[in-house]
Amino acid sequence: MPGRWKNNLKYSDVTPQADYINRRDLIAGAGVMAAMTIAGPALAKIATVPSEYSTAQAPNTLKDITSYNNFYEFGTGKDDPAKNAHTLTTDPWAVKIDGLVDRPGNYDLGDLLSGVTMEERIYRLRCVEAWSAVIPWVGFELATLLNRVGVQPSAKYVYFETLVRPGEMPGQKRALLKWPYREGLRLDEAMNPLTILATGLYGEDLPNQNGAPLRLVVPWKYGFKSIKSIVRISLVNKQPQATWNMQNPGEYGFYSNVNPNVDHPRWSQATERPIGGGLFSKRIPTQMFNGYGDQVAHLYKGMDLSQDF
Ligand code: MTE
Repeated sequence: MPGRWKNNLKYSDVTPQADYINRRDLIAGAGVMAAMTIAGPALAKIATVPSEYSTAQAPNTLKDITSYNNFYEFGTGKDDPAKNAHTLTTDPWAVKIDGLVDRPGNYDLGDLLSGVTMEERIYRLRCVEAWSAVIPWVGFELATLLNRVGVQPSAKYVYFETLVRPGEMPGQKRALLKWPYREGLRLDEAMNPLTILATGLYGEDLPNQNGAPLRLVVPWKYGFKSIKSIVRISLVNKQPQATWNMQNPGEYGFYSNVNPNVDHPRWSQATERPIGGGLFSKRIPTQMFNGYGDQVAHLYKGMDLSQDF
């Protein structure tokens, strides 16, 4: 069924608590509401528990999150994705899952997500590049999907690719990067419960400029690891290619964990500029693993993160 993964809720329907609400809870909540015969604006009263990893920090506005983006397939300017990404057709959408898996296939996204969407949560996560934002994603653990397709014991890494469609992605008419955009994670990183696939934000379907209809979110790594508009997920046994690492291995490592102690060769990574505060907003200190050390530091035990950056 096309569009099966769509979230039913529109931002305009709900209060600012919208980032606590998803389709599953709306369905559950509707039942509760009927049973309790509570009068009044039902939607506003349905609040549910966000993912345990959600930060208490206030999210950025929908406008900030959808108007300041990196998505080179639509141009290199921060406002290019918002201007150009509407041309991308995201339904129907297929995701090829191949390599070291028990059930490979070219899956229709709706089929792939049926059942998985029941595990959707709201993840209000920090993300950092040179700037930072707090984004209320609708998503589910990548591990849920990987377990459904059956990861074989020889798999060591997960590789991801973005769509190549220059007719709809004007940036791909130029060799800005080697297309397709690609990324990779070590299997234990991919299986960590903080690694999610997002299908929405602020309770709505993902806007195209944010990587519709399916994108990765790895909040303890720099933003470029969070690959958008995914069409291929491969389980492999060797460290896969990753776009910025291929482009400039001296500047961008495979791991790209947020680390204020390891500078980029051309700039300090000790501080970040929160978006939404205007051009002159104060920079704030960047935290190791973007503040998610309790969840992920164990993955890198014994590694020298200034070498494996
Ligand atoms: N994915 C694709 N396919 N193409 C891109 O250019 N840019 C990356 C990442 N994913 C990018 C991508 C970078 S550099 C960042 S910082 C984040 O997307 C930005 O995500 P956002 O625009 O949703 O904040």
